[in-house]
Amino acid sequence: MTFEPKDALRIGIVGTGFIAEFHLRSLIGVRNVTVHGVYSRNKDNRDRITALSQSLDLGPCPGFDSLEALVQSGEIDAIWILSPNHTRLAVMETIYDEVKAGRSSIRAVACEKPLARTLREARRMVELVEDAGLLHGYLENQVFCTPVIRGKEIIWRRAARTTGRPYLARAAEEHSGPHAAWFWQGDKQGGGALSDMMCHSVEVARHLLTDPEKPRESLKVKSAVGKVSTLKWSRPTYADELAEKYGAEVDFRNRPTEDFAYGQLVLEDEDGTEMVIEATTSWAYVGAGLRIKLEMLGPEYSMEFDSLSSGLKVFMSRRVSGAEGEDLVEKQNSEQGLMPVLEDEAGVYGYTDENRHMVERFRKGELPDENFHDGLAVVEMMMALYLSAEKQATVTFPCPELEDYVPLVARGA
Ligand SMILES: NC(=O)c1ccc[n+]([C@@H]2O[C@H](COP(=O)([O-])OP(=O)(O)OC[C@H]3O[C@@H](n4cnc5c(N)ncnc54)[C@H](OP(=O)(O)O)[C@@H]3O)[C@@H](O)[C@H]2O)c1
Repeated sequence: MTFEPKDALRIGIVGTGFIAEFHLRSLIGVRNVTVHGVYSRNKDNRDRITALSQSLDLGPCPGFDSLEALVQSGEIDAIWILSPNHTRLAVMETIYDEVKAGRSSIRAVACEKPLARTLREARRMVELVEDAGLLHGYLENQVFCTPVIRGKEIIWRRAARTTGRPYLARAAEEHSGPHAAWFWQGDKQGGGALSDMMCHSVEVARHLLTDPEKPRESLKVKSAVGKVSTLKWSRPTYADELAEKYGAEVDFRNRPTEDFAYGQLVLEDEDGTEMVIEATTSWAYVGAGLRIKLEMLGPEYSMEFDSLSSGLKVFMSRRVSGAEGEDLVEKQNSEQGLMPVLEDEAGVYGYTDENRHMVERFRKGELPDENFHDGLAVVEMMMALYLSAEKQATVTFPCPELEDYVPLVARGA
């Protein structure tokens, strides 16, 4: 389907939680966009998001108490899916039904990470969005992190062109654990720290290794080795802490998910040159807050980024007291001592450039560079890592077994 360019894109959001607020705050750095609606099951949450959108001057953002009503509003061009992983497919199916029945005039859907919990679900997401004739974007913010954009541009322009392509990308994302019960439940979330966080790491690493003049598919995954463990949160004290905070449905004494994951992927480019992705993610890291570490190595060069080695730091003595918060850095663990501060989290984490890219492409009627096909490729890499961890063996591609594979913790095992 082709779409005429529009002067401005009107977006509607599904979800009112942590990431919905992050997206709204980032949109103040994006042109040609207004927020024209939010769907939530809860009136207080709808009102909070409406008030936030209005206070940021992003648009009227009326609340809708059904997804159908949001999609049918006639005032919305694109939907941002920002609800939990277990709601993905149902949300996409409703959008599909409304568009196919001619009750919606939307042109595009952007979906948060991970695109799905299994390869089967991911393929269905792609099928639905394409059969509905919609444009689609995969919201992987790390691909749009400002240090990733700048670092990749410099390395590929100056170093890789003269001395050869990079051969190793390392990506790590770690924090002290997610903020809502469903993340800790393998069946709802799809897994543990691997599916929650390594979706970022494998994709940003694949992106760094991809020649900027070639499509992402120019790299093929050849093999995967994964390892998962529960290092911290199944210890009795911590398992009880989770149960106290989230209720009996989060039972890490009996049904833990992994809080640590390691993955190694071997890829090959069109010339048969081999390269490696090394990813580590965990919910067992207690430092100042969320830490993203990235490295890329090539024959005569390297780049590195550590989100906690920020230029701005503040020191607060033991006499400074006050409420706990996340005002210095995401998943902050302390309010005292020497603390790193990210002065523009939305920019450094990539939300601003991500949304700018999605808005501009959708507005012009074009497919974003990061789209559902990339989301599907990420799910395939993650399923290979889970299967490898379960079998304690290297998984080689092609691997038909991945099509119906469900990770152990998502199976309730
Ligand atoms: N890119 C990133 O770094 C990043 C970071 C965090 C999260 N995420 C992703 O963003 C998504 C949401 O995460 P979050 O942290 O925002 O979660 P959250 O804080 O738990 O918020 C989820 C929101 O979804 C809504 N919701 C829950 N169940 C729903 C259902 N059955 N149907 C429709 N809406 C439902 C809830 O709103 P109501 O109760 O008001 O309906 C809730 O406010 C997840 O897929 C997560 O993986 C990405």
